[in-house]
Amino acid sequence: MHHHQQQPLPPPFTANATAPTTTPKDHTKTTLYIILATSFFSLIFILSLPSTTTSSSQSLIKARRDPALFPNHPITPTEIPSGPTPPSIAYFITGSAGDSARILRLLFASYHPRNHYLLHLDLSAPQKERDRLAITVQSVPIFKAAQNVDVIGKADYAYKRGSSTISSTLHGASILLRLASNWDWFIPLNAGDYPLVTQDDLLHIFSYLPKDLNFVNHTSYIGWKESKRLKPIIVDTGLYLLEKHEIYYASQKRELPNAFRLFAGSPFTMLTRNFIEFCILGTDNLPRTLLMYFANMPFSFMNYFPTVLCNSDQFKTTVVNHNLQYVAFNESSTKKHPPMESAEFEAMVQSGAAFATQFQYDDPVLDRIDREILNRSPGKAVPGGWCLGEPDNGTCSVWGDSDILRPGPGAKRLEKHIVESLKDNKIRSQQCLEE
Ligand SMILES: *[C@@H]1O[C@H](CO)[C@@H](O)[C@H](O)[C@H]1NC(C)=O
Ligand SMILES: *[C@@H]1O[C@H](CO)[C@@H](O)[C@H](O)[C@H]1NC(C)=O
Ligand SMILES: *[C@@H]1O[C@H](CO)[C@@H](O)[C@H](O)[C@H]1NC(C)=O
Repeated sequence: MHHHQQQPLPPPFTANATAPTTTPKDHTKTTLYIILATSFFSLIFILSLPSTTTSSSQSLIKARRDPALFPNHPITPTEIPSGPTPPSIAYFITGSAGDSARILRLLFASYHPRNHYLLHLDLSAPQKERDRLAITVQSVPIFKAAQNVDVIGKADYAYKRGSSTISSTLHGASILLRLASNWDWFIPLNAGDYPLVTQDDLLHIFSYLPKDLNFVNHTSYIGWKESKRLKPIIVDTGLYLLEKHEIYYASQKRELPNAFRLFAGSPFTMLTRNFIEFCILGTDNLPRTLLMYFANMPFSFMNYFPTVLCNSDQFKTTVVNHNLQYVAFNESSTKKHPPMESAEFEAMVQSGAAFATQFQYDDPVLDRIDREILNRSPGKAVPGGWCLGEPDNGTCSVWGDSDILRPGPGAKRLEKHIVESLKDNKIRSQQCLEE
């Protein structure tokens, strides 16, 4: 692994040194007002959820009622409420040969100093590309100063069609557990993913969620299509051959298991730290037994986490059957997809999803997302509450407090969507159902 320097390094520029027009104090005040204005109503909605929940889902919402957040409470400048401390997210961003540019773009588009980022170019990519990626990351002043972006130097194969992706993702998650003790959710991203909300939006909404919710698409419905995916036996050469190779299919198929219930899902998940620790450090053997079972299933990465979650008494009540991802283009089309039409762009944005997939290198849609949603310039991070610089000129090269979020319209969309998925009858009626 390429680590950045370990000695604590102050941000490259401080507000005092360079903020030209406003003092840092003034700035903090205005920022807080902005946060206040945008949070009132949205938060009340989320905070009011627990009254309708039943005992089994009481763990869902631990309301942190700050009286100052309620509009009937007069707010004077001397008692500016500070919302709950924003969470931190650990991102594992993976790609294959030739994906460095997409990985970097995704990193900038989803960057926030509170989070942690681990980049993985799988073994199909030459070591030179991996080294170059690490050097590029180290040359970006904000990444270097925040010390929250790392690149895996000793890569794994991660064949989507096989099971090596599970192993590689668990590898990433375990490194992230070691690198930082303070993250709350783990999100594996692929080079083809892209955010539809800013990190300020995401962290803002997630700061009002209980930290034990896992967002994972899952179904136990085994149709003919699923059984074509679940019964074949494969051998993933990525687990034991140094050269890039095929996945072998055995001529026989195996029965569906009856020692546990299979759940099929999709590759995108948002998993809690608790659950990741259960998978990697836990003494319950379920995650390991399933790991060995899934070693011989095609595309098993989609099914591993949903199956572990739904077969664990400890975790099955924590699953939300929606992964907050919008699938704009599916993976089956390897050739260039047609440009996205305006109507679909609108639908994608209004879906309230946090991420979308599967975009190609420099897809024009990404420029549109940067421009209209993220307010991001090429090669720059998405401006947020932590950026104190002058607009249009290296906004984020002058830093403020990373606890200060400036959520925008994306937070509203995401909130609406999450509130919808968390409605008590909905969350219970779709959770780990045995169909
Ligand atoms: C995940 O589940 C949601 C809600 O059921 C659905 O809208 C979405 O298409 C699913 N995503 C995938 C990749 O299956
Ligand atoms: C992928 O998209 C194409 C065209 O939109 C569609 O015909 C096909 O069924 C999709 N495949 C999957 C696996 O969803
Ligand atoms: C942009 O920043 C540079 C150096 O940080 C400074 O020299 C320049 O005057 C700034 N331009 C504007 C328009 O603020």
